[in-house]
Amino acid sequence: MANRLPVDRITTPEGEPSFRTSPGGLVTALEPVMRAADGAWVGWTGSVDDHLEPFEHDGIHIIPVALSADDVELYYEGFSNDTLWPLYHDVIAPPAYHREWWERYVAVNRRFAERAAEIAAEDATVWVQDYQLQLVPRMLRQARPDLTIGFFNHIPFPAYGIFSQLPWRTQIVEGLLGADVIGFQRTADAGNFSRAVRRLLGYQAKGSVIDVPLDDSELASAKHRISAVRPNKPVRTVVARAFPISIDAESYEDLARRPDIQARAKEIREGLGNPDVVMLGVDRLDYTKGIGHRLKAFGELLADGAVDVEDVTLVQVASPSRERVRTYQRLRDEIELQVGRINGDYSTLSHTAISYLHHGYPREEMVALYLAADVMLVTALRDGMNLVAKEYVACRFDNDGVLVLSEFAGAADELKTALRVNPHDIEGLKEAMLTAMRMPRAERSRRMRAMRKRVTENDVERWSSEFLAALAAPSTSLALPAANEATDPTDPSEEAGS
Ligand code: G6P
Repeated sequence: MANRLPVDRITTPEGEPSFRTSPGGLVTALEPVMRAADGAWVGWTGSVDDHLEPFEHDGIHIIPVALSADDVELYYEGFSNDTLWPLYHDVIAPPAYHREWWERYVAVNRRFAERAAEIAAEDATVWVQDYQLQLVPRMLRQARPDLTIGFFNHIPFPAYGIFSQLPWRTQIVEGLLGADVIGFQRTADAGNFSRAVRRLLGYQAKGSVIDVPLDDSELASAKHRISAVRPNKPVRTVVARAFPISIDAESYEDLARRPDIQARAKEIREGLGNPDVVMLGVDRLDYTKGIGHRLKAFGELLADGAVDVEDVTLVQVASPSRERVRTYQRLRDEIELQVGRINGDYSTLSHTAISYLHHGYPREEMVALYLAADVMLVTALRDGMNLVAKEYVACRFDNDGVLVLSEFAGAADELKTALRVNPHDIEGLKEAMLTAMRMPRAERSRRMRAMRKRVTENDVERWSSEFLAALAAPSTSLALPAANEATDPTDPSEEAGS
């Protein structure tokens, strides 16, 4: 279950209904998983009041959930993307807290939970995805105690000092604890969640295991599974730990090896005027991605004369996203002003400083762009994982190309031989760009080889099978609480604001 289906329903310019791959990393990662699985994907088609019957698409069984115009405004654009998204990304933009948005979030989460409860087979496994559906695990457990429920959070989970701003913080944590296994991108995210559980609910959370006391209805329905009468109230154990997500690396490499795609990469470079260096940014147009910081650094390099527009081009793909949310509209204006100024100041008739593209592209074109790029810039201010970084690495079977990677993207925990940057440090970013452009072939190759090993070994198939194995493991059963250990009062991580 995910807010979005793998395909969006669109109307072609000829007025025909059609489908298009949905945006974002969640769909990139889960599409191959679901194509290989004998399950169903429950989600929204991306358009208003789309009351569709279940259907098959590209080997995936699809169960649509309809959202009204009000649902889209209050649950999706409002609570999901103007409250939770900025809050979970370290308040880069200010989150808005509106009770009406929250009420609709609860109602839509209930609708998703009811749909899953209707269609899931006896004892089925339901895997709920991402921040839009955090209340579903508990709702689903209450409706269908026979189910095994997993949850994966694709975006960061913030430190308690930030999370605690949320007026409905306790309900969110309780909602998530309805799952048997809760997955996060980074160990730090899982730690932040466990701390929130201890602070808000006082449950024991040791390592990755959290003891959740059974409520009365659960006790009644589970009685036959509890073997003895014990003085302590029985608990369910919930596992909360990191499962860093990945991509179908092999399919990217297969595309990159295709002669037509390699020819297209060459054509792209020619179209740019055959500069010595092509730098590339690929992002949804989102304020978490640090696009403005990247443009600023590049603009300063041109202004300083450290790089010449005849030699270096930056291609920035910024795919449209959440266009009705005001923060995103403002961001688009800012970025396009910045691009226009830099191009106005530095482009020549034969060379454009920044090729800015406000479109999404098919995967084949993206792979050609990755092959055409000498330097890939991933300068997110905060990012759960950033699969674009992994896509670039997966495509570079020639062991060439330099990845400049923000230390605030989850991918930095894994891709240790990337050129790491703090995107807030514009001087550091400029230096990293210059280092990347000038890096000798032997060093590029050494760094890329190490990253490729990681990405090809830890692909999305491994991610999903590890998560599902954890979900099937017996540690998620009924148990007595571990011997009473109060939370360590001297643990500095327990301080508010940690
Ligand atoms: C991120 C989120 C996904 C989301 C995607 C696209 O990857 O983790 O849950 O689907 O962005 O955003 P959108 O709002 O268009 O679904």
